[in-house]
Amino acid sequence: MNRAKILIILLTSFALNASAQTKKTVSPEEAKMNTFIDKLMARMTVDEKIGQLNLPSSGDITTGQANSSDIGKKIEAGQVGGLFNIKGVEKIKAVQKVAVEQSRLKIPLLFGMDVIHGYNTVFPIPLGVSCIWDMSLVQKTARVAAIEASASGINWTFSPMVDISRDPRWGRISEGSGEDTYLGSQIAAAMVKGYQGKLQANNEILACVKHYALYGAAEAGRDYNTTDMSKVRMYNEYFPPYKAAVDAGAASIMASFNEVDGIPATGSKWLMTDVLRNQWGFKGFVVTDYTGIPEMIAHGMGDLQTVSALAMNAGIDMDMVGEGFLGNLKKSLAEKKVSINEINRACRLILQAKYKLGLFTDPYKFLSTERAEKEVFNAENRQVAREISAESFVLLKNKNNILPLKKSGTIGLIGPLADNTANMYGTWSVAALFDKSVTVLQGLKNALGNDAKILTARGANFLADSAMEQRYVNVHNPTYKRNPRSEEEMIKEALKVAEKSDVIVATVGEGSEFTGESSSVTDIQIPETQKNLLKALAKTGKPVVLVLFTGRPLALKWEEENIPAILNVWFPGSEAGNSIADVLFGKVNPSGKLSTTFPQNVGQVPIYYAHKNTGRPLAEGKWFEKFRSNYLDVSNDPLYPFGFGLSYTSFSYSDIKLSSNTLTKGKTITASVTLSNTGKYDGKEVVQLYTRDLAGSITRPVKELKGFQKVSLKAGESKTITFAISENDLKFYNSDLKFVAEPGDFQVFIGTNSRDVKEASFSLK
Ligand code: BGC
Repeated sequence: MNRAKILIILLTSFALNASAQTKKTVSPEEAKMNTFIDKLMARMTVDEKIGQLNLPSSGDITTGQANSSDIGKKIEAGQVGGLFNIKGVEKIKAVQKVAVEQSRLKIPLLFGMDVIHGYNTVFPIPLGVSCIWDMSLVQKTARVAAIEASASGINWTFSPMVDISRDPRWGRISEGSGEDTYLGSQIAAAMVKGYQGKLQANNEILACVKHYALYGAAEAGRDYNTTDMSKVRMYNEYFPPYKAAVDAGAASIMASFNEVDGIPATGSKWLMTDVLRNQWGFKGFVVTDYTGIPEMIAHGMGDLQTVSALAMNAGIDMDMVGEGFLGNLKKSLAEKKVSINEINRACRLILQAKYKLGLFTDPYKFLSTERAEKEVFNAENRQVAREISAESFVLLKNKNNILPLKKSGTIGLIGPLADNTANMYGTWSVAALFDKSVTVLQGLKNALGNDAKILTARGANFLADSAMEQRYVNVHNPTYKRNPRSEEEMIKEALKVAEKSDVIVATVGEGSEFTGESSSVTDIQIPETQKNLLKALAKTGKPVVLVLFTGRPLALKWEEENIPAILNVWFPGSEAGNSIADVLFGKVNPSGKLSTTFPQNVGQVPIYYAHKNTGRPLAEGKWFEKFRSNYLDVSNDPLYPFGFGLSYTSFSYSDIKLSSNTLTKGKTITASVTLSNTGKYDGKEVVQLYTRDLAGSITRPVKELKGFQKVSLKAGESKTITFAISENDLKFYNSDLKFVAEPGDFQVFIGTNSRDVKEASFSLK
């Protein structure tokens, strides 16, 4: 065979291989998209490409002047890829019109918004939703949010927030799903599916997973603060929810503000390219958080041109508000500090997202006034919110079965949250209708009609110090009115109401903006003035039901010791009052379970169930022992453990039955219990499965959640609940960051929370 022939054969087989490979990875739709984008990009100038990477806030656009605003001019000049925080179909339509009619290449815009727990119909804060432990309902919250947001012109939501957090001082703990890796991962995936669906219909929108990475581990719970942890911990405990969202097909991801391993996330090539794209196979685009690029100057990473190039080379595709890309990338390109390949990469990913949304076919796809009128805040969505809110409540205490309340006699409804609309929502309720939430008073009235009498008293302000209160209440909450009377006067009035009442419902705790961004605290108790009110009410000897509003786990030691019933309702959203009444009067039996440990006091923080054993663990049941891992002044126990939550009925668990004590790689065994409803009410129980790896090549947590099932049981009914356990459930990242299961002995626990469990053992061969 001559050399030319050999070459032809080689080339042909190369071409065949290549086309086989192309066939394998590129679907016809993708190929069509690629051709479309190739053609478009061939027509784009460098400036226009950089323009696509720019994401300003809606800025100065008001109705009717999309053209003449500064942003409008930038859009016309092809310097904007998307806008966020712009609200209303007409306004968004006018802006999209500028993009597709007046800019040279007529590229449509993305419209983003922080729709993190509903749009006009507001669901409980995400920390509340994470206590539902039913992924179909979690997904439903995202679905309804996507329907309403998309009907209002939004095609991209900055949600889900999947940052694991074990620090209630951190205000943003309210926006996430709590402390647990497994539960957090399940929720991350469910939310992405809820928002995106198949990304085809006009009510399916882009999700944006945030804040990648480790934002919830800010030192001392202070927002934006440094994080520093081992890679083993990142991979095993903090990364999985981001990865689960990526695996579920999340279209975009947001970089976090904090540094990771000494480099701000926004400038970390390791995070944005090595882990996210190369290890996890992420195919979407990465956006910075608000001014994430210029903030790297204060982090100490160099001037704006340097940090903009750093972000681009790290793998960031879109620049939120910072305009570091817009003003600097071209210069950096000329100076060879970034390459055109990087700019092309980012531009292509943004265009792909627009293409997948269908914006090139119809830029007005999400802009229908008719849909907005029909599909937003309608009775159906509000009913879903009502049901879901009630599922998120966690009954922390119910001494002598005070709850459910009877619909008779006189109820004293007391506290700053009794007749308060705006504070039913919780933080990041960007599209909430502040005067349209159902207050607790209204909800109780709706439920009671003429069956019982309600007396009310304000009882307290949120905080005694008015200047401090102003800071806590915050700009997002314009309707809050401080009561000018003194603490004594308000308590006196409350006591008069208490005297005439058969039962007291005390609605106290935090206001909506006590948690959320830039709302960190060092004291996690109910504010003193409200606690004084509670103390006065408790002293009356009347039964007190504490309806607790909070966006973070609070230290409730005094309340646990002195108040007979505590129902934690987080921030329930639009239907707050109705869902609270549903639970207080027993129409709904509470079934929420904590997704974050409640400490005895702030000094125990971070406290979480999946901790390590240490070399000197405290013997079980002990309070204190010298030279053991414990405190002098408080036991190691949490006040309420992870997974905890009571019901109006009671459940009993049989011992665990294992199908075998040996699990062989590649096979599964089952662990089952018989669950019985031993009380008087029908109810739901979240059956939780935990495992412990007794010896490993690295130390392993004392318990790890590996499964759960939310089960409905009629009073007196029993069911067998079975979990399958496979080698996969036992895998973890070892010192080489390899995901492995190591043969050896394991414990398996099944129970009603992370503390109260049945136990069995097996080994992995
Ligand atoms: C927050 C993000 C949010 C963004 C846009 C930032 O301050 O950290 O969570 O998505 O603003 O509103």
